[in-house]
Amino acid sequence: MGLKQIELTVNGFSSPFLVQSDEVLLFTLRERLYLTGTKEGCNQGTCGSCTVLLDGKPVLSCMTPTLRCVGKKIITIENISSGDTLHTVQKYLVEKGGLQCGFCTPGVVMTMVPFLEENPNASREEIKEGLSGNLCRCTGYKKIIDAVENAAEEMRS
Ligand code: FES
Ligand code: FES
Repeated sequence: MGLKQIELTVNGFSSPFLVQSDEVLLFTLRERLYLTGTKEGCNQGTCGSCTVLLDGKPVLSCMTPTLRCVGKKIITIENISSGDTLHTVQKYLVEKGGLQCGFCTPGVVMTMVPFLEENPNASREEIKEGLSGNLCRCTGYKKIIDAVENAAEEMRS
């Protein structure tokens, strides 16, 4: 194993730093870059709370080796709003009560933003399917799905 110097591009900024060669992206983001918006839930690839974008695609950062991210663009929840203006998905999650403790919310947002960009006309069933990898212990999902439907509608118009 041992440390390696690499350069990563996270939220539009590139910087060099040392990582362990067997390190996963979730650890790098939270413990080296202090980007703690990405949540550590199961650490086993089953809850979706650690989802980030890698070259625009959602990935589970707890299962993604950091060395595999070199040369790619990483986007985390910290970079999804435009300054103080929430992304449409975030706005409706707040407005529709699609979160309680909020632990799953960054993962839901990072899953649903690219999903709606790729599937602007997604049906409620398709949204449910798109959310199937994101576990939420609080909301019962209905309000999350309502929020995503509202966001889809606004993003289409
Ligand atoms: S912490 Fe990565 S899927 Fe649960
Ligand atoms: S709002 Fe608590 S886990 Fe989803």
